[in-house]
Amino acid sequence: MRMDTLLGHAGRAPERFDGAVNVPVIRASTVLFPDVDAHETSDRFTSVTYGRHGTTTRFALEEALAQVEGATRVSAVSSGVAAIAVSLLAFTRPGDHILVADNVYGPTRHFCEARLKRNGVDVEYYDPCIGSRVSEYFRANTRLVFCESPGSLTFEMQDLPAIGAAARARGIPVLADNTWATPYFFRPFDKGVDVSIHSATKYIVGHADVIMGTIGATEAYWRTIRQTAADYGYTASPDDCYLALRGLRTLAPRLRQQMQNALHVANWLSTRAEVARVLYPALPSDPGYALWKRDMTGAASLFGVELKPLSDSVVKAGLNGLRYFGHGASWGGFESLVTFPKPARSRSVTPWQSGPLLRLHIGLEDPQDLIADLSAAFDVMRREA
Ligand SMILES: Cc1ncc(COP(=O)(O)O)c(C=O)c1O
Repeated sequence: MRMDTLLGHAGRAPERFDGAVNVPVIRASTVLFPDVDAHETSDRFTSVTYGRHGTTTRFALEEALAQVEGATRVSAVSSGVAAIAVSLLAFTRPGDHILVADNVYGPTRHFCEARLKRNGVDVEYYDPCIGSRVSEYFRANTRLVFCESPGSLTFEMQDLPAIGAAARARGIPVLADNTWATPYFFRPFDKGVDVSIHSATKYIVGHADVIMGTIGATEAYWRTIRQTAADYGYTASPDDCYLALRGLRTLAPRLRQQMQNALHVANWLSTRAEVARVLYPALPSDPGYALWKRDMTGAASLFGVELKPLSDSVVKAGLNGLRYFGHGASWGGFESLVTFPKPARSRSVTPWQSGPLLRLHIGLEDPQDLIADLSAAFDVMRREA
């Protein structure tokens, strides 16, 4: 099956549900067995045993995602941050050392600082662009390498196959937040990754109405992750799993269209006098373009725009007039969004210096309308400057 066909068919079982095309929402805490032996011998990780470990709806989503991404197993949990936390907790204990890319999503870094360090884990940040030289940072007690490629604020691409080869030589896993790359545009397990994390809240759900995270893993690691999620009681509700599975069915056309729209807007922005640079690995001018082209089959519709020097108040005046770009957290839905992040605050080994940085998420609107909106915002900035 080719990928687009798989997205339409994976995880379905109409013969089990009166012919219904979609696996229905099956809500259950208690699950009944025919007798004591059947109850006692059931495997909670691979079959339906109790609501916290998943009903058929969650298993269907996990099965579909595993097929699409090429994981041995996927575990759905309550949020992307929960997926990150579970994955980091699964492989660390006091006295361990871990390597985390310096450009990771803010709450990932916060979890490392506020939780892992307090638990006695030595967290070291590394330059995301270091590639195979990450091995220079390995110590006897290094337990994992955490990546996010591209970083979701500053969009550096990482050489995941090189990092993966270095980590494999040491027998430690590479964990990667692949939310941007999506399961559609990136096959992580062929590219050096052992544990693939998604905020399914973004493109997988795709409609800005569910919070969910998923963790895909290889044969060697999935049980450790599943056990850790179970130990902490992390789960994902059947209703949310149903919506995520529904989102997955249209992932391919949404992503293709959003990428096309994003390229349209990004190329226009590249020509504007107000713009210093566009941070988007899908543009040939981007430093990460060669890695993106080599490793991924498409690009998410999230990118950065560095403006030429302007005061914050002028930038905000321009952004406040936008009609189609919403001001709000997250991305991956059908709607366009803008944020005004400050990456310099959350890096330690690769200081970030730039003019004002915008992060745009391009939705399914007509890109001409989005361009007109941004053009009007630039007019306001020029007047206010
Ligand atoms: C790259 C990245 N990873 C993880 C998350 C966390 O996802 P969630 O909001 O589902 O917890 C986000 C959310 O913005 C994100 O941008």
